[in-house]
Amino acid sequence: MSASRIVLTGSTGGLGSSVLKHIQSLIDPSRLIISLYNPSKAPNVPEGVEVRKGDYSDASSLEDAFKGAQILLLVSYPSIAHELRVKNHINAIDAAKRAGITHIFYTSLAFAGPPTSSESVAAVMRAHIDTEAYLKDSGLNFTIIREGIYSESYPLYLGFFDPTSSSTEVTIPDDGDGGIAWASRDELGEATAKLIVQAADDTSFQYRNKTVLLTGPEAVPLNAVASILSRLLDRNITVKHVEVDEYATSSKALSKLGPEFAKLWATTYIALKQGECAVVDPLLGLVLGRRPKEMHAVLEQLILDTRSAQGSIDQYAK
Ligand SMILES: NC(=O)c1ccc[n+]([C@@H]2O[C@H](COP(=O)([O-])OP(=O)(O)OC[C@H]3O[C@@H](n4cnc5c(N)ncnc54)[C@H](OP(=O)(O)O)[C@@H]3O)[C@@H](O)[C@H]2O)c1
Repeated sequence: MSASRIVLTGSTGGLGSSVLKHIQSLIDPSRLIISLYNPSKAPNVPEGVEVRKGDYSDASSLEDAFKGAQILLLVSYPSIAHELRVKNHINAIDAAKRAGITHIFYTSLAFAGPPTSSESVAAVMRAHIDTEAYLKDSGLNFTIIREGIYSESYPLYLGFFDPTSSSTEVTIPDDGDGGIAWASRDELGEATAKLIVQAADDTSFQYRNKTVLLTGPEAVPLNAVASILSRLLDRNITVKHVEVDEYATSSKALSKLGPEFAKLWATTYIALKQGECAVVDPLLGLVLGRRPKEMHAVLEQLILDTRSAQGSIDQYAK
């Protein structure tokens, strides 16, 4: 029996590029296909990796992109527009079926608490829950990976905080003490790559037809994130809780995105309060074979990187 082939989507994005980086050292390039929305942006790949065009809004391009592979990594479409997002995912699942894919890995999100739950009050999770349900009913084998909340995305949760500004206050709707089991995006990509290769090479893969949760090693509340930032930036950063209407205009970034987005995004904080993102699951550490990075370590690196980027700007932008 010939070795199964794997088709990856989203390889130009944050998570998908990490999966691509890590999977290259685990399997022969001839087993890899990458399906890109915009092949002109193709990353450097080893000889033997096939690059094809696959646009989630164009079903026939997806079918062509997936042909000849047995395993598909479906990276979720990056949008908060519920219906469009689900439609694109359905396009990909249906095209995968027609193309002969037998197992789909879908990158869902770590809301809803334990992986056995499909209940979330967060708007951002709705498209994932609908996609999960469609995939489970598709007749294909699946592994739904609820990818942990990226540590690197902390500004989204912390009132669009900008570490390069001099601001000392972040404004958010009430977050409660729920905490977030933050995970580094690169480690999520590494673990996702390892799980895909396990499924490709091991007929008794234990996460076939399962929903799994990848999280960091501890749940860190937003107040604690602000304290870590205070230490790293050497100024006291406080968290102010406001009503949703005030939140919608509290930062330039949010004002730009508009009040509708702010209202949708504010549901995230109800979910946090209910502990939807606070579940710590050991699986990421088990798959990586080491303790995942802690939030403070990722933040330290991010602030160091920001400072050195800022240093280069100050030095050369004259
Ligand atoms: N776990 C978390 O905390 C977290 C945080 C933020 C977002 N997410 C979600 O997780 C998913 C992956 O995250 P990410 O950081 O990798 O997002 P990302 O960096 O925005 O990457 C998204 C990928 O999707 C591709 N894409 C865009 N439109 C497409 C289309 N019509 N057809 C096919 N591919 C298309 C992009 O291609 P181009 O590069 O050509 O545009 C890119 O490769 C996204 O859905 C994102 O919204 C998760």
